[in-house]
Amino acid sequence: MRAYTLLAPAKINLYLEIVGDRPDGYHELIMVMQSVDLCDRLEVRANGTNDIRLFCDHPEVPLDQSNLAYRAATLMCEQFPDAFERYGGVDIYLEKNIPIGAGLAGGSGNAAATLVGIDLLWKLGLTQSEIQDLGAQLGSDVPFSVAGGTALATGRGENLATLNTLDQLYVVLAKYRSLSVSTPWAYKTYRQQFHETYLRHPNDLEERRKHIHSGPMMGAIAHHDALQIAQHLHNDLEKVVLPAYPAVKALREAFQQTDCLAAMMSGSGPTVFGLAETQEQAEAARQQVRQAIADPDLELWVAKFISKGIQVAT
Ligand code: C5P
Repeated sequence: MRAYTLLAPAKINLYLEIVGDRPDGYHELIMVMQSVDLCDRLEVRANGTNDIRLFCDHPEVPLDQSNLAYRAATLMCEQFPDAFERYGGVDIYLEKNIPIGAGLAGGSGNAAATLVGIDLLWKLGLTQSEIQDLGAQLGSDVPFSVAGGTALATGRGENLATLNTLDQLYVVLAKYRSLSVSTPWAYKTYRQQFHETYLRHPNDLEERRKHIHSGPMMGAIAHHDALQIAQHLHNDLEKVVLPAYPAVKALREAFQQTDCLAAMMSGSGPTVFGLAETQEQAEAARQQVRQAIADPDLELWVAKFISKGIQVAT
Protein backbone atom coordinates (compact mmCIF):
# COMPACT_ATOMS: atom_id res chain seq x y z
CA MET A 1 0.00 0.00 0.00
CA ARG A 2 1.25 3.51 -0.77
CA ALA A 3 -0.64 5.37 1.96
CA TYR A 4 -1.84 4.87 5.53
CA THR A 5 -4.22 6.99 7.60
CA LEU A 6 -3.68 7.04 11.34
CA LEU A 7 -5.58 8.42 14.31
CA ALA A 8 -3.52 10.04 17.06
CA PRO A 9 -5.42 10.59 20.33
CA ALA A 10 -4.84 13.43 22.79
CA LYS A 11 -3.62 12.63 26.31
CA ILE A 12 -4.39 14.12 29.68
CA ASN A 13 -2.42 13.73 32.89
CA LEU A 14 -4.43 12.42 35.82
CA TYR A 15 -1.32 12.78 37.96
CA LEU A 16 1.94 14.68 37.44
CA GLU A 17 4.51 14.86 40.20
CA ILE A 18 7.94 16.41 39.75
CA VAL A 19 10.28 14.50 41.99
CA GLY A 20 13.77 15.67 41.09
CA ASP A 21 16.43 16.77 38.63
CA ARG A 22 18.01 14.43 36.12
CA PRO A 23 21.61 14.51 34.92
CA ASP A 24 20.33 15.08 31.35
CA GLY A 25 18.72 18.39 32.39
CA TYR A 26 15.18 17.02 32.36
CA HIS A 27 13.02 16.32 35.41
CA GLU A 28 12.39 13.02 37.07
CA LEU A 29 8.61 12.58 36.93
CA ILE A 30 5.83 10.32 38.15
CA MET A 31 2.78 10.64 35.93
CA VAL A 32 -0.48 8.89 35.16
CA MET A 33 -1.30 9.41 31.50
CA GLN A 34 -4.66 8.77 29.87
CA SER A 35 -5.65 8.78 26.17
CA VAL A 36 -8.91 10.45 25.19
CA ASP A 37 -10.78 10.18 21.90
CA LEU A 38 -10.11 13.71 20.63
CA CYS A 39 -7.87 12.67 17.72
CA ASP A 40 -5.68 14.21 15.05
CA ARG A 41 -5.81 12.40 11.70
CA LEU A 42 -2.59 11.91 9.80
CA GLU A 43 -2.01 10.40 6.38
CA VAL A 44 1.44 9.17 5.38
CA ARG A 45 1.85 8.70 1.62
CA ALA A 46 4.83 7.67 -0.53
CA ASN A 47 5.55 10.66 -2.79
CA GLY A 48 8.06 9.23 -5.24
CA THR A 49 10.66 11.92 -4.42
CA ASN A 50 13.55 12.07 -1.96
CA ASP A 51 11.79 14.66 0.20
CA ILE A 52 9.62 14.80 3.28
CA ARG A 53 6.73 17.21 2.80
CA LEU A 54 4.27 18.17 5.50
CA PHE A 55 0.82 19.66 4.87
CA CYS A 56 -1.60 20.79 7.57
CA ASP A 57 -5.09 22.30 7.69
CA HIS A 58 -4.16 24.46 10.70
CA PRO A 59 -2.45 27.73 9.71
CA GLU A 60 -0.40 28.01 12.93
CA VAL A 61 1.23 24.59 12.69
CA PRO A 62 4.85 24.86 11.43
CA LEU A 63 5.64 22.68 8.42
CA ASP A 64 9.41 22.41 8.87
CA GLN A 65 11.88 20.70 11.22
CA SER A 66 10.31 22.47 14.20
CA ASN A 67 7.30 20.17 13.74
CA LEU A 68 7.68 16.87 15.64
CA ALA A 69 6.00 14.91 12.81
CA TYR A 70 8.56 16.24 10.35
CA ARG A 71 11.36 15.35 12.79
CA ALA A 72 9.90 11.85 13.19
CA ALA A 73 10.00 11.34 9.40
CA THR A 74 13.59 12.66 9.27
CA LEU A 75 14.57 10.25 12.05
CA MET A 76 13.08 7.31 10.10
CA CYS A 77 15.08 8.33 6.97
CA GLU A 78 18.29 8.46 9.05
CA GLN A 79 17.64 5.20 10.88
CA PHE A 80 16.53 3.20 7.84
CA PRO A 81 18.52 4.55 4.87
CA ASP A 82 18.00 1.38 2.79
CA ALA A 83 14.21 1.57 3.14
CA PHE A 84 14.32 5.31 2.40
CA GLU A 85 16.29 4.63 -0.76
CA ARG A 86 13.93 1.84 -1.80
CA TYR A 87 10.58 3.49 -1.01
CA GLY A 88 11.50 7.18 -1.31
CA GLY A 89 10.17 10.19 0.55
CA VAL A 90 6.80 10.76 2.18
CA ASP A 91 4.02 13.31 2.18
CA ILE A 92 2.37 13.79 5.56
CA TYR A 93 -1.14 15.26 5.61
CA LEU A 94 -2.11 16.38 9.08
CA GLU A 95 -5.70 17.19 10.10
CA LYS A 96 -5.46 18.99 13.43
CA ASN A 97 -8.33 18.49 15.84
CA ILE A 98 -6.31 18.61 19.07
CA PRO A 99 -5.55 22.23 20.05
CA ILE A 100 -1.88 23.21 19.76
CA GLY A 101 0.31 24.32 22.70
CA ALA A 102 -2.34 22.85 24.96
CA GLY A 103 -0.70 20.29 27.28
CA LEU A 104 -2.54 17.50 25.42
CA ALA A 105 0.51 15.97 23.69
CA GLY A 106 -0.88 16.75 20.23
CA GLY A 107 2.60 17.20 18.71
CA SER A 108 3.84 14.01 20.39
CA GLY A 109 0.86 12.10 18.97
CA ASN A 110 1.63 13.40 15.48
CA ALA A 111 5.24 12.21 15.83
CA ALA A 112 4.06 8.81 17.09
CA ALA A 113 1.62 8.46 14.16
CA THR A 114 4.37 9.37 11.68
CA LEU A 115 6.66 6.66 13.10
CA VAL A 116 3.88 4.06 12.96
CA GLY A 117 2.81 5.14 9.45
CA ILE A 118 6.32 5.04 7.96
CA ASP A 119 6.98 1.68 9.63
CA LEU A 120 3.92 0.36 7.74
CA LEU A 121 4.71 2.16 4.49
CA TRP A 122 8.27 0.88 4.41
CA LYS A 123 7.25 -2.62 5.65
CA LEU A 124 9.86 -2.43 8.43
CA GLY A 125 7.92 -4.63 10.87
CA LEU A 126 9.15 -2.76 13.95
CA THR A 127 7.78 -3.82 17.33
CA GLN A 128 5.82 -1.34 19.44
CA SER A 129 8.74 -1.11 21.83
CA GLU A 130 11.19 -0.37 18.97
CA ILE A 131 8.88 2.40 17.76
CA GLN A 132 8.67 3.76 21.32
CA ASP A 133 12.49 3.79 21.61
CA LEU A 134 12.65 5.87 18.43
CA GLY A 135 9.90 8.10 19.83
CA ALA A 136 11.85 8.72 23.03
CA GLN A 137 14.50 10.46 20.89
CA LEU A 138 11.87 12.95 19.76
CA GLY A 139 10.10 13.85 23.00
CA SER A 140 9.25 12.57 26.46
CA ASP A 141 5.55 11.97 25.70
CA VAL A 142 6.03 10.22 22.33
CA PRO A 143 6.48 6.66 23.73
CA PHE A 144 3.18 7.01 25.62
CA SER A 145 1.45 8.41 22.53
CA VAL A 146 2.41 5.27 20.57
CA ALA A 147 0.79 2.84 23.03
CA GLY A 148 -1.86 5.06 24.65
CA GLY A 149 -4.46 3.83 27.14
CA THR A 150 -3.84 4.34 30.84
CA ALA A 151 -0.20 4.23 31.96
CA LEU A 152 2.12 5.06 34.80
CA ALA A 153 5.07 6.99 33.38
CA THR A 154 8.33 7.50 35.25
CA GLY A 155 11.82 8.73 34.42
CA ARG A 156 11.57 11.51 31.85
CA GLY A 157 8.10 10.17 31.06
CA GLU A 158 9.32 7.42 28.75
CA ASN A 159 9.32 4.48 31.20
CA LEU A 160 5.80 3.13 30.94
CA ALA A 161 3.78 0.62 32.91
CA THR A 162 0.35 -0.17 31.51
CA LEU A 163 -2.52 0.21 34.01
CA ASN A 164 -6.12 -0.99 34.12
CA THR A 165 -8.03 0.62 31.28
CA LEU A 166 -10.47 3.31 32.38
CA ASP A 167 -12.40 3.59 29.14
CA GLN A 168 -15.79 4.31 30.71
CA LEU A 169 -14.98 7.85 31.88
CA TYR A 170 -15.43 11.19 30.12
CA VAL A 171 -13.75 14.57 30.22
CA VAL A 172 -14.67 18.06 29.25
CA LEU A 173 -11.58 19.77 27.81
CA ALA A 174 -11.40 23.56 27.83
CA LYS A 175 -8.79 25.81 26.29
CA TYR A 176 -8.57 29.46 25.31
CA ARG A 177 -7.77 29.39 21.59
CA SER A 178 -5.27 32.25 21.79
CA LEU A 179 -3.49 31.05 24.93
CA SER A 180 -0.63 28.58 25.04
CA VAL A 181 1.98 27.77 27.67
CA SER A 182 5.59 26.92 26.90
CA THR A 183 6.47 23.57 28.47
CA PRO A 184 10.18 24.47 28.95
CA TRP A 185 9.06 27.71 30.68
CA ALA A 186 6.76 25.80 33.05
CA TYR A 187 9.45 23.31 34.09
CA LYS A 188 12.14 26.02 34.36
CA THR A 189 9.91 28.16 36.57
CA TYR A 190 9.04 25.16 38.70
CA ARG A 191 12.74 24.43 39.17
CA GLN A 192 13.39 28.04 40.18
CA GLN A 193 10.60 28.04 42.75
CA PHE A 194 10.57 24.50 44.13
CA HIS A 195 14.09 23.18 43.70
CA GLU A 196 14.52 22.74 47.46
CA THR A 197 11.70 20.16 47.47
CA TYR A 198 13.47 17.89 44.91
CA LEU A 199 14.60 14.45 46.04
CA ARG A 200 18.33 14.13 45.52
CA HIS A 201 19.38 10.71 46.66
CA PRO A 202 18.80 7.85 44.15
CA ASN A 203 17.41 5.70 47.00
CA ASP A 204 14.83 8.38 47.82
CA LEU A 205 13.77 8.51 44.17
CA GLU A 206 13.41 4.75 44.06
CA GLU A 207 11.39 4.78 47.31
CA ARG A 208 9.11 7.48 45.89
CA ARG A 209 8.50 5.46 42.71
CA LYS A 210 7.70 2.35 44.74
CA HIS A 211 5.43 4.34 47.04
CA ILE A 212 3.22 5.50 44.17
CA HIS A 213 2.37 1.87 43.37
CA SER A 214 0.76 1.39 46.78
CA GLY A 215 -0.74 4.90 46.81
CA PRO A 216 -4.38 5.95 46.52
CA MET A 217 -4.33 6.87 42.81
CA MET A 218 -3.13 3.41 41.77
CA GLY A 219 -5.78 1.83 44.03
CA ALA A 220 -8.49 4.03 42.56
CA ILE A 221 -7.49 3.10 38.99
CA ALA A 222 -7.29 -0.63 39.83
CA HIS A 223 -10.85 -0.44 41.21
CA HIS A 224 -12.21 1.82 38.44
CA ASP A 225 -13.28 4.15 41.25
CA ALA A 226 -14.04 7.42 39.48
CA LEU A 227 -14.74 9.35 42.70
CA GLN A 228 -11.40 8.31 44.19
CA ILE A 229 -9.58 9.12 40.95
CA ALA A 230 -11.21 12.55 41.02
CA GLN A 231 -10.09 13.11 44.61
CA HIS A 232 -6.48 12.25 43.83
CA LEU A 233 -5.96 14.24 40.64
CA HIS A 234 -2.67 16.08 41.02
CA ASN A 235 -0.45 18.26 38.85
CA ASP A 236 2.62 20.02 40.30
CA LEU A 237 2.83 22.33 37.28
CA GLU A 238 -0.41 24.02 38.37
CA LYS A 239 1.69 25.66 41.10
CA VAL A 240 3.50 27.79 38.50
CA VAL A 241 1.00 28.00 35.64
CA LEU A 242 -2.14 29.02 37.59
CA PRO A 243 -0.54 32.06 39.30
CA ALA A 244 0.97 33.23 35.98
CA TYR A 245 -2.26 32.72 33.98
CA PRO A 246 -5.26 34.00 35.99
CA ALA A 247 -7.65 33.05 33.14
CA VAL A 248 -6.64 29.39 33.53
CA LYS A 249 -7.14 29.60 37.29
CA ALA A 250 -10.61 31.13 36.77
CA LEU A 251 -11.44 28.41 34.24
CA ARG A 252 -10.48 25.71 36.74
CA GLU A 253 -12.65 27.43 39.36
CA ALA A 254 -15.58 27.59 36.92
CA PHE A 255 -15.30 23.82 36.44
CA GLN A 256 -15.51 23.32 40.19
CA GLN A 257 -19.01 24.85 40.13
CA THR A 258 -20.23 22.26 37.60
CA ASP A 259 -21.52 18.67 37.76
CA CYS A 260 -17.98 17.35 37.10
CA LEU A 261 -16.35 15.13 39.73
CA ALA A 262 -13.22 17.31 39.75
CA ALA A 263 -11.13 19.52 37.49
CA MET A 264 -7.43 19.99 36.84
CA MET A 265 -4.95 21.37 34.33
CA SER A 266 -3.39 18.83 31.94
CA GLY A 267 0.41 18.67 31.58
CA SER A 268 1.95 22.13 31.37
CA GLY A 269 -1.44 23.54 30.39
CA PRO A 270 -3.26 25.67 29.63
CA THR A 271 -5.99 23.07 28.93
CA VAL A 272 -8.21 22.41 31.94
CA PHE A 273 -10.23 19.21 32.08
CA GLY A 274 -13.24 18.24 34.12
CA LEU A 275 -13.75 14.56 34.92
CA ALA A 276 -17.21 13.03 34.43
CA GLU A 277 -18.71 9.58 34.91
CA THR A 278 -21.14 9.77 32.00
CA GLN A 279 -21.45 11.57 28.70
CA GLU A 280 -24.57 13.37 30.01
CA GLN A 281 -22.66 14.66 33.02
CA ALA A 282 -19.85 15.85 30.74
CA GLU A 283 -22.27 17.58 28.33
CA ALA A 284 -23.99 19.30 31.27
CA ALA A 285 -20.64 20.50 32.63
CA ARG A 286 -19.63 21.78 29.21
CA GLN A 287 -22.77 23.92 29.09
CA GLN A 288 -22.28 25.12 32.66
CA VAL A 289 -18.73 26.29 31.88
CA ARG A 290 -19.94 27.93 28.65
CA GLN A 291 -22.61 29.82 30.62
CA ALA A 292 -20.12 30.88 33.31
CA ILE A 293 -17.51 32.07 30.76
CA ALA A 294 -19.13 33.49 27.64
CA ASP A 295 -15.76 34.41 26.01
CA PRO A 296 -15.82 33.14 22.37
CA ASP A 297 -12.06 32.51 22.62
CA LEU A 298 -12.82 29.61 24.97
CA GLU A 299 -13.14 26.26 23.17
CA LEU A 300 -14.73 23.20 24.79
CA TRP A 301 -14.81 19.53 23.83
CA VAL A 302 -16.33 16.41 25.38
CA ALA A 303 -14.09 13.36 25.00
CA LYS A 304 -14.13 9.77 26.22
CA PHE A 305 -11.25 7.89 27.81
CA ILE A 306 -9.86 5.29 25.38
CA SER A 307 -7.55 2.34 25.79
CA LYS A 308 -5.61 2.81 22.55
CA GLY A 309 -2.78 4.94 21.21
CA ILE A 310 -2.04 5.27 17.50
CA GLN A 311 -4.62 3.42 15.40
CA VAL A 312 -4.66 2.69 11.70
CA ALA A 313 -7.93 4.12 10.33
CA THR A 314 -9.96 1.67 8.27
O1 C5P B 1 10.65 15.98 26.00
P1 C5P B 1 9.95 17.20 25.53
O2 C5P B 1 10.65 17.84 24.36
O3 C5P B 1 8.50 17.01 25.29
O4 C5P B 1 10.04 18.23 26.73
C1 C5P B 1 9.77 19.60 26.58
C2 C5P B 1 10.44 20.36 27.71
O5 C5P B 1 9.82 20.05 28.95
C3 C5P B 1 11.90 20.03 27.90
O6 C5P B 1 12.70 20.85 27.09
C4 C5P B 1 12.09 20.34 29.37
O7 C5P B 1 12.26 21.73 29.54
C5 C5P B 1 10.76 19.97 30.00
N1 C5P B 1 10.74 18.62 30.56
C6 C5P B 1 11.43 18.35 31.74
N2 C5P B 1 11.41 17.09 32.26
C7 C5P B 1 10.71 16.11 31.66
C8 C5P B 1 9.98 16.36 30.47
C9 C5P B 1 10.02 17.63 29.95
O8 C5P B 1 12.06 19.24 32.31
N3 C5P B 1 10.71 14.89 32.21
